[in-house]
Amino acid sequence: MTELVVRRLLIDLEAPFVRRWCGGDAFRSALFGALSMSFPVGEQYFIDSVRAGLKRLPEPQREAFAAEVQGFVGQEATHRRLHALFNAQLERLGLRNTVEVRARRRVERDAHLDARIHVAATAATEHFTAVFADWMFAHPEVLDGCEPRLATLWQWHAAEESEHRATAFDLYQAISGDHRWRIRVYRYISVIFLADLLRQTLRNLWHDRAIFSWRTWRSGWLLLFARDGMLRGNVGRWREYFAPDFHPLHRASPQGRDWLRAHAHAFRVVGASGD
Ligand SMILES: [Fe+2]
Ligand SMILES: [Fe+2]
Repeated sequence: MTELVVRRLLIDLEAPFVRRWCGGDAFRSALFGALSMSFPVGEQYFIDSVRAGLKRLPEPQREAFAAEVQGFVGQEATHRRLHALFNAQLERLGLRNTVEVRARRRVERDAHLDARIHVAATAATEHFTAVFADWMFAHPEVLDGCEPRLATLWQWHAAEESEHRATAFDLYQAISGDHRWRIRVYRYISVIFLADLLRQTLRNLWHDRAIFSWRTWRSGWLLLFARDGMLRGNVGRWREYFAPDFHPLHRASPQGRDWLRAHAHAFRVVGASGD
């Protein structure tokens, strides 16, 4: 079991920032903006999914998982709240969040499915966020030129994604452990996640009037497809989820934990409830 605490970030997200907030780079700002836009609905879905999963456990097991699930819920609730503030700034800058609308529709459409599917979808997405977190800590230069408060927001979120990477996975194993469904759902989530991210990134670039600039696509190519780029560099990490003996903690990087230790001044620990 992982001990999870909730940290309240001591940063101001009410103050406006510029549209190309990520070091003046249109592509990085659009892509990370798209990720952020998908978070509030996604994170509420993770919260609801693990809560429903927890209820499926028999009493003694439920007790063993309860504290970790509560910490997970508290962390995701805090991410959701801060990214909603961040997204409100993006909307003020003229960007339109459509990924949220599509995601909400999907959540409503699939609400009738078995809780195990929702926990599998959460575990699958959590693998994506954990891999992204590891990659971000290995490539701190992606946040070069960001205002410190915005860099802190992304690093804190990445550190907590790294920290709670196993919660949904372990819960899935405890309520089902069905490998075939874990993989089936992972394939589906991979397609949806990347398609949503691409569509919203293109939309953000359109609203930024940066979509037809060679500079945008040069930056995008390097970010995603350089040897250790965000996509090309993570193909192996994406594949590892298919292994029958995969576990999220097998290749967990310590960098998130190190960041939290070195940046204790940036947050206040508020407990495991998130409120
Ligand atoms: Fe999160
Ligand atoms: Fe998460």
